[in-house]
Amino acid sequence: MSFPLHRPRRLRRTEKLRGLVREHRLSAAGFIYPMFVCPGTRVRNEIGSMPGVYQQSADQILEECREVESLGISGVILFGLPESKDPRGASSLAKDGVVQRAIEGIKKAKLDLLVVTDVCLCEYTDHGHCGVIDHGDVLNDETLGILSEQALSHARAGADLVAPSDMMDGRVGAIRKKLDENKFESVAIMAYSAKYCSGFYGPFREAARSAPQFGDRRTYQMDPANGDEALKEVALDLEEGADIVMVKPALAYLDIIRRVRERFDVPVAAYNVSGEYSMVKAAAANGWIDEKRIVLEILGGIQRAGAEIILTYHAKDAARWIQVGQ
Ligand code: PBG
Repeated sequence: MSFPLHRPRRLRRTEKLRGLVREHRLSAAGFIYPMFVCPGTRVRNEIGSMPGVYQQSADQILEECREVESLGISGVILFGLPESKDPRGASSLAKDGVVQRAIEGIKKAKLDLLVVTDVCLCEYTDHGHCGVIDHGDVLNDETLGILSEQALSHARAGADLVAPSDMMDGRVGAIRKKLDENKFESVAIMAYSAKYCSGFYGPFREAARSAPQFGDRRTYQMDPANGDEALKEVALDLEEGADIVMVKPALAYLDIIRRVRERFDVPVAAYNVSGEYSMVKAAAANGWIDEKRIVLEILGGIQRAGAEIILTYHAKDAARWIQVGQ
């Protein structure tokens, strides 16, 4: 295998040739677009740190979902900004809660779009933690009941998939059991399995108004220094009945995506999180980078690492760019 017999440049000569031998192609069918639902009607507030992303009432969510559908994106994941918060996140279970109403609206409009819901307490608790608190500790087992009720109420409203992001131990099993007992055995679970305690969630906490009011999430989210532990988390979630496993964030964890892909024969998702989005938007707004090139390179990298599903705030832009050719 040596020069001059082999000349890799031969296959890079024209776009046709490059296209012919291209190993990975991005597709909007692998994208899930995250959205933030708030109370009211005709509300649409842009999130300061996330240009192009909005907190919106259910009617506006539906309008944007029509656009998301028309771009060939497979689904949306909904996060709720409830009217009221309390220590146990009760508003997350309400039949007429923000997320439940948004799901019903989308389903009623019969859009060809998967509706995924984020299952967690941090957006609904007054202390901002992902579970119930006792003397400053986040209680694990006491939280499981509320999470499974929340997942059930999303399923009742019409969710196609539920995505627990709380990182309590045993939540996938508890949710699967609750869904099955209530005849929602066909609602799938996309588990945030390897979810790291990351600084990259900063802008999201502004978007979802979910910053912890004391302490941090280190007692439940994973230590960024750990790799092997991610495989254990994934294995546990699969044993408990997860259908799709997720690695989050994406960019600083591409090695984890690859290891999960190689070890397990299940669909792997990666969450290209808020901080990753904001960095690109800020640099692009300053004219320091070519946004389109960078976004397609980032999403391509996440796909090459092994994720066939990408949750990303860039989904709409990327879908448009892919349509006109990469
Ligand atoms: C809720 C949740 C978070 C994200 C998704 N679900 C925030 C957190 O754990 O603090 C982050 C998403 C993003 O940054 O885009 N637990």
